[in-house]
Amino acid sequence: MKKVLIVNGPNLNLLGTREKDVYGTETLEDIAKRVSIEAEKLRLDIRFIQTNHEGEIIDKIHEAKGKFDVLIINPGAYTHYSIAIRDAIKAVEIAAIEVHLSNIYSREEFRHQSVIAPVCKGQICGFGGYGYILALNAAANL
Ligand code: DQA
Repeated sequence: MKKVLIVNGPNLNLLGTREKDVYGTETLEDIAKRVSIEAEKLRLDIRFIQTNHEGEIIDKIHEAKGKFDVLIINPGAYTHYSIAIRDAIKAVEIAAIEVHLSNIYSREEFRHQSVIAPVCKGQICGFGGYGYILALNAAANL
């Protein structure tokens, strides 16, 4: 069974109440439920986590080496400037998929750049929580 680690970064614990016009009303728990139903269909063994701390994201990526086959990551605002998370993904050599609920390219200019995308297989953005379902399917087909 393919193992997939799904990492959610800062402020994503606030989904459902945070900027609903941008991120919708679905909570992270709702997304986690949808993801686990889809993972069963796709026969993927998943772990879904959230942390507000950059170092913890990096630790989880390091620990994933040799244990997970695919990393799905929504790094939140770290997307736009964390070279440390980018280096961690590159270092562990795990196929990574970047996900964003919002379309980062239709928002403020500072969100248009992802320093994470170049070390990922691909990026999915703009489809809300469904982006995680798309990413799981991409993971299953890698
Ligand atoms: C986000 C987009 C980021 O720019 C923002 O900082 C987030 C959420 C998204 O999922 O749309 O926290 O990653």
